[in-house]
Amino acid sequence: MQGLDLYTDPYTLLGVGDDAGVYAYGDSIFVHTVDFITPVVNDPYLWGAISTSNSLSDVYAMGCKPINALAIVGFNNCDLEVWVLKEVMRGCADKLREAKTVLLGGHTVDDKEPKFGLAVMGVCEGRRFLTQQGAKPGDLIALTKPIGVGILTKAIKEGKISERDLRHAIDYMLKLNDKASQIALEFATACTDVTGFGLLGHAYNIARKSEVKLVIEFSKVPVYEEAVFFVKEKIYPKGAMDNYNFVKESLENQGLDWWQLLLLSDPVTSGGLLFTISEEKRQEVEKKAKEMGIDIWIVGRAVEGKGITVSY
Ligand code: CO
Ligand code: CO
Ligand code: CO
Repeated sequence: MQGLDLYTDPYTLLGVGDDAGVYAYGDSIFVHTVDFITPVVNDPYLWGAISTSNSLSDVYAMGCKPINALAIVGFNNCDLEVWVLKEVMRGCADKLREAKTVLLGGHTVDDKEPKFGLAVMGVCEGRRFLTQQGAKPGDLIALTKPIGVGILTKAIKEGKISERDLRHAIDYMLKLNDKASQIALEFATACTDVTGFGLLGHAYNIARKSEVKLVIEFSKVPVYEEAVFFVKEKIYPKGAMDNYNFVKESLENQGLDWWQLLLLSDPVTSGGLLFTISEEKRQEVEKKAKEMGIDIWIVGRAVEGKGITVSY
């Protein structure tokens, strides 16, 4: 979108460039975002539910609540039978019910490669929202779901592993970031969600917008052990390498192996929230997360400087 002369108006609080756009109208502040993906699992019901969770995630990353959505569908009914799409929509409907989000409509196009996702509108209760800007030197970096999903999806597509053996990873992808979002809204200084650009790509966004350096310790980052196995076997999506190439100019590597860098760059579907908190709040955040049934891993720290440092 860079270099485009976009129309804007006084209601636009935050335009292109964060997890969602922010718009004030009347007494309310709304966020708006769109995301759609190709299948990450073979089961259409699960794909619909995971994609829905993934599309809602950008609203949660802003510390806001999704209220309504529109479906975006790419589907070819010569290649696939209609029951498949019905299952996708059923997965979506169940996830939207869980998120208390109303489906207002949608649009389908003919597409050889199936796609599914949502445009989502959310509301900022208390007129407060989070952005990728605001991390301070000394802050700790928190992550709420493991990484390695892109590698696992690649392994499924290549028939190296079955979905049944990856139930724990699928459960994490299905999980809404709603509760993590409540914690972030209360404590975070900056927040985003981990999706297509991988942990390093999204961490880099926070570093750049907040004008700090993020130091990430590999040994503290939660990873699926199957993803470690497959990446060492050189099974990983092209996106992992693309993401790595994108951040490498801004990356200081203190001794990680090639596979560790690829794992940290692996594109994620429906990943966790990545946010910074002041160190004094650590115990309070961990206590609250435990009460709410949310996993939290402290994976590093913000310091003065620019870009990202990765160490073991
Ligand atoms: Co996002
Ligand atoms: Co997005
Ligand atoms: Co239409």
